[in-house]
Amino acid sequence: MSQPMLHKLPVAAYTSQEWFDRENELIFSRTWRYAGFMEDITEPGQYISVQAGLNNIFIVMGRDMRLRAFHNICRHRGTQLIRAVGKTQKALTCPYHDWTYDLEGNLISVPDEDREFEGIDKSCLGLKPASVDLWRGMLFVHPDPEAGSIMEWFGDVEPKLGPHKVEELPEYSEARTTHEIKANWKIVAENYIDVYHLSHLHSGTLHMYDHAKAEYGFVGPHYAFWEPPSEQYGADIAKNTPTPLVIPVEQAGAWVPMLFPGIGLAESENSWATFIITPLGPDLTRIENRVRVANASSWEFTKQSTKSFAFWRDNITGKFEADADNPDDPMTGGDFTAEDIYACEQQQKSLKSPHFEVGPASKGESPVTDHQQVILNWMEQQA
Ligand code: FES
Ligand SMILES: [Fe+2]
Repeated sequence: MSQPMLHKLPVAAYTSQEWFDRENELIFSRTWRYAGFMEDITEPGQYISVQAGLNNIFIVMGRDMRLRAFHNICRHRGTQLIRAVGKTQKALTCPYHDWTYDLEGNLISVPDEDREFEGIDKSCLGLKPASVDLWRGMLFVHPDPEAGSIMEWFGDVEPKLGPHKVEELPEYSEARTTHEIKANWKIVAENYIDVYHLSHLHSGTLHMYDHAKAEYGFVGPHYAFWEPPSEQYGADIAKNTPTPLVIPVEQAGAWVPMLFPGIGLAESENSWATFIITPLGPDLTRIENRVRVANASSWEFTKQSTKSFAFWRDNITGKFEADADNPDDPMTGGDFTAEDIYACEQQQKSLKSPHFEVGPASKGESPVTDHQQVILNWMEQQA
């Protein structure tokens, strides 16, 4: 019996450990990974670390205020030097035998050097460098120190990623969220770029935009998406509500690109947000959201306008068995992220059934099948 397909990829691509391992090696270990916001490292000694496929990489600011990225591997016996985020004083010391590196990655001290190591050349034992780059206030790392620049990697999609002056917008840290979704990372990515579902799953939450007028498509491995506001919402914006706008009123709309692999952005006339997809297992994925706005009240307004609680309760809740009397139930809040998580997990549940068979893809799902083709091409190219 031939393997069931989910459009262009076999179902095993969404369920098996083998596919997960191959993607980790061929996709996530060989592309630029989001690591954080520029505000996360502002002074010498501050660092953040990120898992980039098989590589753990950290970024640290040197005494010269420059950002450098290194593989988080002690040159003695390989122990990870640092954990997560933090600030070191002047140097990085390995927890195992106290080998110590300066903030520029040079090995500066080896305990009992004379007694324990004859003729050791510390200058050859600096930390292995990786690449770091900054784009629109986001820090990226690449395991390869010769990776080039992030602008080269984005290429022709860059001009389609919105007019926002991202560095001028402060982060609204109260809006920072992390979710673990019980679904394969590609289910989550496909959901993000599925245009067909916008007017259905999100009929109660994302009605401010005119999905029928959306313009979208892939540019290389990256996906660009833009749609104008609905007539009603456009009129509200023109009257300058919600305020304050972060882009000129004539350019109002939503940009929702996905940079390969799994780096989603969601930008509107009053906000700019990240949606970072990290695969944790064949059927487990983490997403991290961070938001920039002109000020906090505009974000609260946006959140409110996507909720439309009454519409949600009256028209949709039955569909998702939400407990409408319980305000803590995420499905009663009319939160479109909760809607997406629900849809992704429900889809993943069916994939292992022997009766699973995918139906036809709509026009608005062309990004889904195009993304599957991007994955296939990339894996073939890298293998
Ligand atoms: S492994 Fe790092 S000092 Fe030994
Ligand atoms: Fe969605």
